[in-house]
Amino acid sequence: MRHLIDPMDLSVEDIDRLLNLADDISKHPEKYREVCRYKKLATLFFEPSTRTRLSFEAAMLELGGSVLGFSSADSSSAAKGESIADTARTVACYADIIAMRHPKEGAPYVASQFVDIPIINAGDGGHNHPTQTLTDLLTIRREKGRLDHFTIGFCGDLKFGRTVHSLIKALSRYDDINYIMISPEELQIPEYLKKDVFERKGIPFREVEKMEEVMPELDIIYMTRVQRERFFNEADYVRLKDSYILDMDKLKNAKEDLSILHPLPRVNEISVKVDQDPRACYFRQALNGKHVRMALIMDLLGVSADED
Ligand code: CP
Repeated sequence: MRHLIDPMDLSVEDIDRLLNLADDISKHPEKYREVCRYKKLATLFFEPSTRTRLSFEAAMLELGGSVLGFSSADSSSAAKGESIADTARTVACYADIIAMRHPKEGAPYVASQFVDIPIINAGDGGHNHPTQTLTDLLTIRREKGRLDHFTIGFCGDLKFGRTVHSLIKALSRYDDINYIMISPEELQIPEYLKKDVFERKGIPFREVEKMEEVMPELDIIYMTRVQRERFFNEADYVRLKDSYILDMDKLKNAKEDLSILHPLPRVNEISVKVDQDPRACYFRQALNGKHVRMALIMDLLGVSADED
């Protein structure tokens, strides 16, 4: 793997290797404090971010490397009309690895065609978010002890939610997973995922509108925010934004070992009272994102910790 653009760039073996390394990093951080000394990560964020950008930056700093970059298109020469290709070629003169977030689907792929350093897709439009997928897989493995044999419900904006699209693709390689899509009709998963992932591989899935209907069956519920920035019409967003609110009342019928995931940011779709429930995994998930991004940076840069 030279770049990470799409979750399918990761084989199951790649995922195992990265998650194992992330586990070791979290247990023995001292082993990894200097592995990226003199290496530079550029974070090119053309769209807002808290977790992805800051966890990438923290990851590189904890590996002993340095960080440079920008956090909005307005503060880069993109605001003057510079192309993605020219931006990438320029930044490749200053950095050893790039994490890029962009509102246009495919932008990190375009960048990867013009540089010889690794490009990581940190989210492209409503398309993919492969490092969130690694975060989610690490979270599922840490919470459940496995990446197969469970029932997962994806809930909310399944149309625009890139984290959902990427996680579904990655999970489609694992056995015996029951998928339940919980969304209003207008926010169902895109047709290409239904055809290319579920139908092509013969994997069944259910689509329902009511969360309560399926709550007792779920081992994992993956909540999502309705993606205001992807709507063409504010009135549609306002009508749909509170379609699902997970609160303690709805959890009454849930399994005792349910895992509640959310890529965050949350707007209103999980009541803050749920945060105290041990089944709420989403802040542990945010921490896992740093560990797995440390592992990914090391892997793409080809560095390892010296073993004594
Ligand atoms: N999960 C995630 O991508 O969060 P940010 O938008 O804060 O990076």
